[in-house]
Amino acid sequence: MLLINDLNVHFGAAHVLKNVSLSALPGAVTCIVGPNGSGKTTTLRAATGDVAYEGSITLNGHSLKRLEPWQAARLRGVLPQSSTLAFPFTVIEVVRIGLHTGEAGDQDHIALAALDKVDLAGYTNRPYHELSGGEQQRVHLARVLAQIPDAKPDDDPRWLFLDEPVASLDIAHQLQVMKIARDFADAGGGVVAVMHDLNLTSMFADKIVLMSDGSILAVGHPARVMTNATLSRAYRCDLRVSCPPPGNLPFLLPHAARAAAE
Ligand SMILES: Nc1ncnc2c1ncn2[C@@H]1O[C@H](COP(=O)(O)OP(=O)(O)OP(=O)(O)O)[C@@H](O)[C@H]1O
Ligand SMILES: [Mg+2]
Repeated sequence: MLLINDLNVHFGAAHVLKNVSLSALPGAVTCIVGPNGSGKTTTLRAATGDVAYEGSITLNGHSLKRLEPWQAARLRGVLPQSSTLAFPFTVIEVVRIGLHTGEAGDQDHIALAALDKVDLAGYTNRPYHELSGGEQQRVHLARVLAQIPDAKPDDDPRWLFLDEPVASLDIAHQLQVMKIARDFADAGGGVVAVMHDLNLTSMFADKIVLMSDGSILAVGHPARVMTNATLSRAYRCDLRVSCPPPGNLPFLLPHAARAAAE
């Protein structure tokens, strides 16, 4: 379980996260949504130990501040909102960064399986810098999947922390990546994903954490969080949610939102 309690983050004089408390369960996809600058990435970066914070964060019962980097690397993989690479790596070399060294045997099959999962099986020796933006994003996801290939080895859940994993992907690959997240959770692992697409979030999330101005505005099942009043308040514009069949999941209809704005 990921447990964040009374989290506060300051950047200089700016109080960026204010008393944020949330939990995420293994076996579930937890999505953090909210407007630009609301604190989603900062919350995720605190949860991965990449930002100094006040408060308490535990992962599977371990205090984050006491986890050694190698222990954290075995427990969770992190897909940042953006990644830059300084060296002219090939695709497979980028994915190999995720592999754990010091283990017996050739592990390239793990890297190759991860590439296959993100639909880049034929890209192994392509120069990373020559790939499109969406392809590069999927290479980084493959790197994370190579680091955390199993959702629950030794009965200890592993975690994927994904910051906007579908941001630059076409609709087919968005669905594919969300399915990877769903399958990982269904296999017993935990997924925490920052999302902007509220409809994909509604389809795949077990729990939504809606942030606004560095605080949590609403938490719960999509049906509970995705209401006209709550979303309109968070995003400061008039938004309309429907629940169309089949499934009757909350769905933000852009034309309804546009009509509301006119
Ligand atoms: N390193 C930093 N130094 C100073 N301010 C920062 C830093 N990182 C983030 N901030 C500020 O903290 C606030 C929250 O940023 P954060 O990146 O968490 O937003 P976000 O919700 O992920 O937004 P987006 O949807 O645009 O990615 C913003 O106002 C941002 O300007
Ligand atoms: Mg962000």
